[in-house]
Amino acid sequence: MSAETVQGLQPPRRAVRPASAPPAEAAELLDPSTVLVPTRFLGGAQPSAEAAGGALCDGRRTLAELAREGGLDLDLARTLLSRLYAQGLVCETGSALVPSSLFLEHAQGLCWRWRRARLGHGPALEACFASGSYSRRLATGYLLEVTHVVRGAAGHIAAAIAHASDEGLQLRLSEYLEDEYWHGELMERALKGAGLGQQELARAVPLPATQAVLNSWRHAAHTDLLLYGGLIAITESATDESSAIVELFHRTLAQRVLPEAAWRPYFEHAFGDSAADHVSHGRAIFEAAGPLLPSRRDQLRRALLLHSEALVLQERAVLSFYAEAEGPAAHALEWSE
Ligand SMILES: [Fe+2]
Repeated sequence: MSAETVQGLQPPRRAVRPASAPPAEAAELLDPSTVLVPTRFLGGAQPSAEAAGGALCDGRRTLAELAREGGLDLDLARTLLSRLYAQGLVCETGSALVPSSLFLEHAQGLCWRWRRARLGHGPALEACFASGSYSRRLATGYLLEVTHVVRGAAGHIAAAIAHASDEGLQLRLSEYLEDEYWHGELMERALKGAGLGQQELARAVPLPATQAVLNSWRHAAHTDLLLYGGLIAITESATDESSAIVELFHRTLAQRVLPEAAWRPYFEHAFGDSAADHVSHGRAIFEAAGPLLPSRRDQLRRALLLHSEALVLQERAVLSFYAEAEGPAAHALEWSE
């Protein structure tokens, strides 16, 4: 065969993993022997047949006993209560096994409700940005703190890859790293678009609360892969957020606080991450772990709620440091005169 008839070499490309199907709502069900109690959020939920069922959970009767006493078909009761559980409106007590991905959904729901409730009772960035009455300094400071977190991704994803015990998870987390490692540069484009100078950017250090959030990612990556998967699940955007991101991008531009050059890289980053379905990596970590013992579930739930609380405090720290229109454009610790 002559050299002319051989096709030229092509650089290899990563095989595209088929997009994982969005999780069916409460696809996995609670065991009939599960004992449930309402969480603090059940009372504030929209009235529904499910919520009424949740109120019957008393921490004593099993799911099967509740169905029997209420004259409900057991499968229907399992479906309804599993859905409430996945939303974080009831939680399990006792020793029945819970499917790990159902537990993860539950933790996501609980953490989401926790943050909404805490941010509803105090200063919150989302409300501030939605109102349009925020300073250019606050918007730039927010982008800067996001940049610090995004730039830290390679450090913790690499550690998580090293601590993953099976090849499938190592490869998945490598994909996550491939998606993320260059996003710090993308965010730096946003900061330049906002007018932050190269020197200010070089001197900037995270607010202590931002550093604390980043450190908890690093710590989890080194010590507890399941917790790391939980952090992915409660923090990364889900695939169904793409249209909301586009809508928010246009609304934010219309406020004319920062130019498009600042917001476009930020929203394109969020848009890309949403389409990449990073939450599925967290789900894969939980699925690989199998059902979790009660003590492990409690430990993870507590750690994930603690992280949610840290995110609330971090948001407040951003507001506290950057809300005034006048002040340093970047948090930096200067030791020389
Ligand atoms: Fe990213």
